[in-house]
Amino acid sequence: MSKVIKIISVVGARPNFMKISPFINQINNHNACSDIRINHLLVHTGQHYDDKMSNVFFEQLGIPKADINLGIGSGSHAEQVGKTMISFEKVLKNESPDWVIVVGDVNATLACSVTAKKLNIKVCHIESGLRSRDELMPEEVNRLVTDRISDLLLTPDMISFDNLLNEGISSEKIKFVGNIMIDTLDAQINKARNINLNNIIKNNLINKQDHILNSENIPFGLITLHRPSNVDILEVLQPVVRFFLDEVVNDYLLIWPIHPRTKKKLIDFNLWNEVLNCKKIIILNPISYQEMLKLNLEASIMFTDSGGLQEECTVLGTPCLTLRYNTERPITLFENGGASILTGNKIKDIKSNLNKIINKNIIPSRPKYWDGKTAYRCLNAIMKFK
Ligand code: UD1
Repeated sequence: MSKVIKIISVVGARPNFMKISPFINQINNHNACSDIRINHLLVHTGQHYDDKMSNVFFEQLGIPKADINLGIGSGSHAEQVGKTMISFEKVLKNESPDWVIVVGDVNATLACSVTAKKLNIKVCHIESGLRSRDELMPEEVNRLVTDRISDLLLTPDMISFDNLLNEGISSEKIKFVGNIMIDTLDAQINKARNINLNNIIKNNLINKQDHILNSENIPFGLITLHRPSNVDILEVLQPVVRFFLDEVVNDYLLIWPIHPRTKKKLIDFNLWNEVLNCKKIIILNPISYQEMLKLNLEASIMFTDSGGLQEECTVLGTPCLTLRYNTERPITLFENGGASILTGNKIKDIKSNLNKIINKNIIPSRPKYWDGKTAYRCLNAIMKFK
């Protein structure tokens, strides 16, 4: 009888979906041609639950429907982590997997890695070793705890590899495999190129219909903001919004697919109607992966606080202003060959860096092993683990 290995992979929130899709494809490839069978189950914690924050990614990236959905939903960090742990423990007791695979840095990553570890189940962390050194970020806490207890740590670059070594983690547990998100980017880019820009706007528009683009050739900037440090504080969010409304729109049309957290805060702070009524800002509902890729391909400039977009901008060569004071992804910074400049969230710094970056020659760049083959190296590392 051939050997069977049981693996549970976990997803919880939007940025997890593009990381798990190539891994599941790789398992299917493996099962088609190996004597060792992988019995795989996908668990969705349900932290992100909307069609637009979750289902559309499953459909577009060909991710099979989750075998188990924990239905955790919104809540404080403790509520999300606590509820996930309680539910996931039951799943693990029923299923007794050999491995639990977690990706990224969201609350599901933390909750499920700790739960598995306490049941003596091996944990593999994909996208390990990223460090912002800012423990006020919930994601940094998630990264630190998950990496400390994981049995196999798979890093996207050598900076992350060295971070883990410097924290005293044994080199035998760490493997540099590359960036799994770029596997998804490579798999989806041709479909993205063929999408019509105006259709993205028409299909997702929140403002009135007269915000539709008349031409595909208008230079535009793309905005994505969702970090609590940028959107939860009126004194931070208001000047940033004013800067977009009063200044940036003089040079660029702006397209802003809005995260639910950010929309809620704009409403709470009485800024929502003003943003919606500005003729030069196109406000969209959260968009699909391919739609975001298309907008990124066409954008003249990106304003973001997302980690994943810093990476995608680097590979696509889109000038990227990152409205943060630190990044867990220093390999994406201009001084390290990437496309991103850290601006923080003070207007004078965003403005001066905007002037700087548009005069720089940003070209597409691929750090080592950002080659579309990372999922293969991930599964290989798991299968060879002793
Ligand atoms: C989470 C992740 C963050 C990731 C981001 C991407 C953690 C700690 N944070 O932050 O790392 O970059 O996702 O999106 O895990 N909401 C909806 N519909 C949904 C999901 C959420 O309306 O499908 C609402 C929630 O009710 C909540 C807000 O959006 O009010 C924020 O959701 P939350 O799960 O707290 O985390 P994010 O800010 O999205």
